[in-house]
Amino acid sequence: MKGVPLKVKVRLLKKIVILPLAAVLTALAAFFCWGLVEAAGLTVTRVDFPHPDVPAAFDGFTIAFLSDFHFGPFFSARRTERAVATANALHPDLILLGGDYVDVPPEEAKAFFRILGGLKAPFGTYGVLGNGDYRGAEEEIAQRLSANGVTVIEDRGLWIERPGSRIRLGGVREMGTWRYDLAPALAGTKASDFVILLVHQPDFAEKEKDGRLDLELAGHTHGGQVNLFGWSPSVPSSYGARFRGGVVKVRETTLVISRGLGTTILPLRVGSPPEIVLVTLRGGKT
Ligand SMILES: [Fe+2]
Repeated sequence: MKGVPLKVKVRLLKKIVILPLAAVLTALAAFFCWGLVEAAGLTVTRVDFPHPDVPAAFDGFTIAFLSDFHFGPFFSARRTERAVATANALHPDLILLGGDYVDVPPEEAKAFFRILGGLKAPFGTYGVLGNGDYRGAEEEIAQRLSANGVTVIEDRGLWIERPGSRIRLGGVREMGTWRYDLAPALAGTKASDFVILLVHQPDFAEKEKDGRLDLELAGHTHGGQVNLFGWSPSVPSSYGARFRGGVVKVRETTLVISRGLGTTILPLRVGSPPEIVLVTLRGGKT
C-alpha cells in the first residue's frame, strides 16, 4: 500500500472491510429481531386425521396439543395465559400436553401451573413430562400438574368413552430416563382399537414399535427453532430433519410432532413459529 494516496486507502478499506462487516451486522440484527418477534407469536395448526379405526362416535373429535412451554425468563405468565385462552377458544374435546413445562424451579412457576389449570375440555387434560422436566424436580412438577387439573399419564393408559364406543389414550415416561413402560398404555387393546400415544420425544416412534399404535403426539424438537428453507442448525433427534415437525408416517403409526410454544438455548424462532396443534379425528367405524 506504499505510495497509495490516503484517500484511496480509506476508500479500499471501506469497500473491503467496513461495508461487508456492516452488511453482516445488519443481517444478524435483522435475524435476531425477526427471531424475537416470531418467538413471541402463536399459531394454530389444524391436522385432519382420518383413520379406519376411528369409531363413528368419534368422528369430528378434537384434540388440542400443547407442548414445550419452557416457562421462565423467555416464556412469561402472560404468554401462558394466551396459550391457554387460545386452546380453550378452539373448544377441543380433549387437551394433551407434551412436556418441558418449566425452565425454572417449580417453586418459581406457581403462576404457570395455576394458569394451566384454566385449560378446559369435556374429556379432560392429560400430560407427560419432557426431558427438561427430569432434572430432579419431576415429582414436584407432576404434583403441581395434578393439583391444577392435568392428569399425568406417564406409563398409563385409559379409555375415552362415548356411548357405545371408545378410544384408547396412553402415555409413556420420557424415553431419556430409560425407565418407561409402554405396556400399560396398550393394556387390553386390540389391533382394531384406535390408540393414541402421548410421548415427549418423537424418536420414541422409531424406538418402540407396536402395530396397535395409530397416532403418536410428540414435541421436543421445537421445529428446529430455526428453519431456513429446510435447513436447521440443530434438530434434537437421531432422525434429524425428518422429525423436525409436522405429520410423519412411521410404519403403521402416524406421528404428529408439534413445534411447541417456547424456546430453548436462544429465545428465537425463525421459520418455525410457536404452535398449538388441533387434531380432528375422522372415521366411521361401527
Ligand atoms: Fe422443549
